[in-house]
Amino acid sequence: MIVPIQDWQRTLQPVLESCAALNQVTILGQTDSTQDEARRINAQPGHVIIAVRQTAGRGRMGRTWIDDRGEGLAVSIVVAVAPPERLAVLSAVAVAHALQAHCPAKVCVGIKWPNDIVVNDRKLAGILVEQDSRRAIIGIGINVEQKSWPDELRDRAVSLHQLGARADHLTVLRSLLPALDAAMALSDDELLRRFAERDALVGKTVTLYDAGRAVTGRVHSVSPRHGIVVQTDQGERHLPAATVSTHPPA
Ligand code: BTN
Repeated sequence: MIVPIQDWQRTLQPVLESCAALNQVTILGQTDSTQDEARRINAQPGHVIIAVRQTAGRGRMGRTWIDDRGEGLAVSIVVAVAPPERLAVLSAVAVAHALQAHCPAKVCVGIKWPNDIVVNDRKLAGILVEQDSRRAIIGIGINVEQKSWPDELRDRAVSLHQLGARADHLTVLRSLLPALDAAMALSDDELLRRFAERDALVGKTVTLYDAGRAVTGRVHSVSPRHGIVVQTDQGERHLPAATVSTHPPA
């Protein structure tokens, strides 16, 4: 069902009024990237930019975020400049919490460092945080209504619909925006505690990439402050959290 843009605006206005740090929403029928749109319109902290359809979405590490059929949700939230690890953790904690509320009880929404939102190792949402000296832009892509995937994503992606959630784009936004607003008020310690509860890497044997080098082993701990500790066949390796990814370099 296509909901007219005026209805999105009408529905989200009271949601914003209940938020401390969010105060303006721009809803676009179509744009290339909500991240780029935020910059084009010089959006200030508190401004939320949403696209019904995003044609050239950007992902982390130069990847693309493809959802030009409008089945997913594309939103960018402009916030005040903050340490990158804090923004990574707070956005992941907020998105995971908001999406968990829509899923059946048996589904566990996890976070794969730094901020992939996953269910059983399949990606439900991705987050891209970009910032300059004036503002940070938290870009969130959520798989909402996809019923199928191209071959290359079939084993790696999942949507709320496929998980049995009964949520449309607006319903998700109504929980996502307050969750982000609330997360922004949390202390670093509380954010780290909530992150650890949803950590999807600890105990798993994975390959991590740091500055182009692959390290395979069992993840012992993940800490935005202290880095990632991996038990490899050659012994324990300590990797810097800021640069490590579960994705091979593009
Ligand atoms: C990733 O997993 O690599 C991050 C994906 C982030 C995608 C979102 S969709 C809304 C915002 N606009 C963009 O162009 N990218 C982010």
